[in-house]
Amino acid sequence: MSQKSMTSRIAILGSGEVGSTIAYSLILNPVAGEILLVDPKEEVRDAQVQDLSDATFHGNTSTQVRAGTHKEAGQCDIVVITAGAAQKKGESRTDLVGRNLKILSSAIDDMKPFREDTIIVLVSNPVDILTYFAQKFSGLPKHQVIGSGTFLDSARLRGILAQKCGVAASSIDAYVLGEHGDSQMVIGGVPLELALPDASIDKAAIAEDTKKKAAAIMESKGATAYGIGGVTSSICKSILFDQCNIRPISHYQDDMNVCLSMPVIIGRKGIVRQIPLKLNDGEKKELEQSAKSLREIIDDVEK
Ligand code: LAC
Repeated sequence: MSQKSMTSRIAILGSGEVGSTIAYSLILNPVAGEILLVDPKEEVRDAQVQDLSDATFHGNTSTQVRAGTHKEAGQCDIVVITAGAAQKKGESRTDLVGRNLKILSSAIDDMKPFREDTIIVLVSNPVDILTYFAQKFSGLPKHQVIGSGTFLDSARLRGILAQKCGVAASSIDAYVLGEHGDSQMVIGGVPLELALPDASIDKAAIAEDTKKKAAAIMESKGATAYGIGGVTSSICKSILFDQCNIRPISHYQDDMNVCLSMPVIIGRKGIVRQIPLKLNDGEKKELEQSAKSLREIIDDVEK
């Protein structure tokens, strides 16, 4: 760990399955000096702190885990928000909007005032809607309020393509963009086209498999945790180490007045800039559709 990141602190709001898995991933791949778990359910929070701490007493980590308050969270380098109701079987991510907006609004109030360079990373669903409102509620600059978005869907897509094509997932240049939800879309870079010369590989089916993967996991084990844990700790690493990686991350889109995922450069200031993409007419339409369905939900909340 660099000297600077040794003093960095990440607060995680919500010590349920997702929050604690993110914490665990951040311990194994250490990027910060301290992780603060913040949760009004003190008994669960403290038990998670104890259990996670046991994972820090051996091996190669100097990250410490402790319970924290909302006020302390507002002074951390990164606040990861996982608090809120989780999807139940058969529910869509957008079904959670009412319940999770209330929780988000009061959590943000409790964290104020924010340190001026704090980055908020939304993970709770519906992530794009909550990212939009977290920016409004917090008053932080738009580039400092981001959502895990379709980074996870993009990882899933790469995994599915890797298996089908016999190409390492890390060598596949393909993104899921738009909403982290039902209106998401798939964009393939040049290597994807090269890797899929066989017309028998059905891109629409692959896009559908990617979209349905979370629901399939939930159907059998009730929740997803490891995938989101891995991508969220990777986002934290990009921020704290100022890595300037390109990632599909949910953030504010000026032209569409919503938050959704497009590839961006991500570093210590949050979104450094968006990568312009050449979309064909069909892709443009899909993206507009995704923005429209998000906008309708926001309008409904705001009316
Ligand atoms: C998933 C949750 C994080 O896609 O929405 O696994």
